[in-house]
Amino acid sequence: MKKTVSIGVFDSGYGGLTVLSEIVNRLPEYDYIYLGDNARAPYGTRSFEVVYDYTLEAVKELFERGCELVVLACNTASAKALRSIQQNDLPLIDPNKRVLGVIRPSTEIIGDLTQSGHVGILATEGTVKSESYVIELSKYAPTVKVVQHACPMWVPLIENHRHDSAAGRLFIEEDVNSLLSKDPKIDTIVLACTHYPILKEYIESILPSTVKVISQGAIVAEKLEDYLLRNTALTTKLTRSGSLHFLTTESATEFDKKASIFFGKEVKSEHIKL
Ligand code: DGL
Repeated sequence: MKKTVSIGVFDSGYGGLTVLSEIVNRLPEYDYIYLGDNARAPYGTRSFEVVYDYTLEAVKELFERGCELVVLACNTASAKALRSIQQNDLPLIDPNKRVLGVIRPSTEIIGDLTQSGHVGILATEGTVKSESYVIELSKYAPTVKVVQHACPMWVPLIENHRHDSAAGRLFIEEDVNSLLSKDPKIDTIVLACTHYPILKEYIESILPSTVKVISQGAIVAEKLEDYLLRNTALTTKLTRSGSLHFLTTESATEFDKKASIFFGKEVKSEHIKL
C-alpha cells in the first residue's frame, strides 16, 4: 500500500475543524490528518511554556504519522509556539518539513477589509496578551487602528456546548459590547480564535449591519493554496487520495458527537495519547 503523505491540521480542540472544513472545500484532493488536543483544551489561558510544549508534542505526532506540513489551526498555538517551532525545533526535527500558522494569513488581508481603518480582534487571553495581531498588523497595515478584547469564557462555553444557552449568550454579548466600547469606529471584527466561527451568526445579529465579522477559515485555505503553488518541492511530496483522518486526545465518541457542528459533516475519530 502506498504511504500517505498528509497535511496535518492541529488545534487545542474542535475549533480547527472550522479551518479544516474550508481547506478541504478548497483543496479536496490532498490527504489530511486532524488532531484535536481536546483532553487538554482550552489552551487560551495556559502559559507560553505549556502551550509551546503541548503544540510541539502534537506537531511531532503529526510528523510521525506522515505529515510533511502542519497547519496550526489555532491562534493561541500560532501566537505562542509557532515561531519557536519554526526557528528552533524544525531545523533539528527535519528541515524539509513545514509548520504554518493562522495569524499571518489573516493579518495580511485585514487592511483590505476595513473602510474606517478601525479593526477589532476577539481572541483568547493568550492570543491577546501575545500582541501577535498588533505586531503583525503594524507590518501589513500600519495605518489600521487595532483594538483587542479577550474572551476567556468563549472556548469553555463552546467546548461544553453551552454557547447557545441564555447565560452563554449574555457572556458573548458583554464581550462584543466591551470591544466596541473601546473603539466605536470599528467596522471589521476578526474572530481570531478558530472556535469562534460557530458564534458568527449570533455575533452578527447583535451588531449593526455596518460591522463586518470575519472568520479565518476561508482566508487560511486561500493562503494555503498559494503556499502550495509556490512551494513545489513540498507539494510534490504530498499524496492526493482525498482522505481525512481525525485524531483526538479525548474520548473518540465524545469528539464525534460534537465535531460535526464545527466540521459541517459527520466525523469518525480515533483516540490517541500524546
Ligand atoms: N482554537 C483556539 C484558538 O484559535 C482555541 C484556543 C483555546 O484552546 O483556548 O485560539
